[in-house]
Amino acid sequence: MKTLEHQIEEAARLVAESKRIIVFTGAGVSTESGIPDFRGPEGLWSKYDPEDFTIERFLSDRDVRKKHWQLLTGNEFIVADAKPNPAHYAITALQEMGKLYGIVTQNVDGLHQKAGVLENLVFQLHGDLSHAKCLGCSCRYPIEEVKGWLAGGVDEPECPSCRGMLKPDAVFFGEQLPFEVLMESEQRSRNCDLCIVLGSTLVVYPAATMPLHAIRTGAKLVIINMGPTAMDELATVRIEGKAGEVMPVIVKKAKEKVR
Ligand code: APR
Repeated sequence: MKTLEHQIEEAARLVAESKRIIVFTGAGVSTESGIPDFRGPEGLWSKYDPEDFTIERFLSDRDVRKKHWQLLTGNEFIVADAKPNPAHYAITALQEMGKLYGIVTQNVDGLHQKAGVLENLVFQLHGDLSHAKCLGCSCRYPIEEVKGWLAGGVDEPECPSCRGMLKPDAVFFGEQLPFEVLMESEQRSRNCDLCIVLGSTLVVYPAATMPLHAIRTGAKLVIINMGPTAMDELATVRIEGKAGEVMPVIVKKAKEKVR
């Protein structure tokens, strides 16, 4: 069994040697910012039924839609004042080192951009919760504006422009992922030389195909997670630990190696 120090040292060497790093993030990278994950011990799916979060239920059941909008006004799915944590900033440091080929994220919290990663290097496979989108005319409205309508007594917001059905702009189970984002994420995962997975169980597809594309085309795989993931046995380096504690140490050591 390799010690944590040895694993961190090995991961730092891989970062130092790499030129095109894809960082694949899941909800575990944002828990230290106060945003709950889904399948961890206190995860959202231990409190809510994921079956209520399918696009089919949303479209067919008005009560499900009303429940969704009520949840969004709470502070679990959207933590309004959430700030990036050291894991996010460590990834931004890879961008400053000229090594970040992209962040492929399942998260909808926008914290990678808030931590200073360039918009064109963040690929949000599951959309994001910053806006709601009209399913009729595709107009988008800032989610805070929609939350204002809900606070004013609206129980199911509709599009002010065409009165169509509004939906939070995150991808629901059973819904197509944004095609261009998916294609670009796949392309970059195939062309990276190192894929670092941070805070994901790697159980949701097609998002979880990205680390597989990377290793199939010869990239190394580093997984940093608290608890098991579905791809632990494929990892070159597997580190059990908190993203906000481990990632900054890896990046700091990598910087010392490239000096
Ligand atoms: N550091 C490292 N790992 C952490 C941390 C942390 N600070 N906090 C939580 N974790 C781990 C959890 O133990 C869990 O193994 O991160 C993992 C998060 O996994 P999930 O909750 O399954 O989240 P994710 O993999 O992003 O889920 C994928 O599923 O519900 C859908 O659309 C939703 O995008 C989401 C997708």
